[in-house]
Amino acid sequence: MDRTATGKYYSVACMICHSTNVKGEFPPDKLFSGGMEFPMPDGTIITSANISPDMGTGIGNMSKGLFISKFKACSDPASLDVKFWGYNTPMAWNFIAKTVRAEDLEAVYDYLMTQKPVNHKVEKITLQGVK
Ligand code: HEC
Repeated sequence: MDRTATGKYYSVACMICHSTNVKGEFPPDKLFSGGMEFPMPDGTIITSANISPDMGTGIGNMSKGLFISKFKACSDPASLDVKFWGYNTPMAWNFIAKTVRAEDLEAVYDYLMTQKPVNHKVEKITLQGVK
């Protein structure tokens, strides 16, 4: 597979959590702009991040190095501990870090950067009733 195909291949998995889903369809104008809500048992709501290349609300300002390091930091199982983040996250950081090679994550990053920037501000964590 060439790099673009690799990036696209993995990005489909990211898209499922990182796009607005309207009755099982992904509106093409909102791809990768986040907003899927994951209610946690304690009432906290974690919302998937905007990973479109928008400068203000997406990852347009995130360097490739930082992008990769976010996954690398999670290849250690200890990072699954809530204490690592201060909250638990449904983002499959650990799984992706373990199963996707760094060069393939780079291809994902490059692919994401070719997508349409979508201006959509996401509040990743809404803490509720957390002690
Ligand atoms: C199971 C759902 C799910 C899948 C699959 C998923 N993500 Fe996420 N992602 C999330 C959630 C929820 C967050 C927000 C919480 C967090 O930052 O951990 C997030 C956060 C992120 C962030 C952090 C953005 C920031 O502003 O810090 C990046 C980067 C990211 N995801 C990239 C990806 C990529 C690339 C893939 C595919 C290889 C992917 N995600 C697959 C749910 C998912």
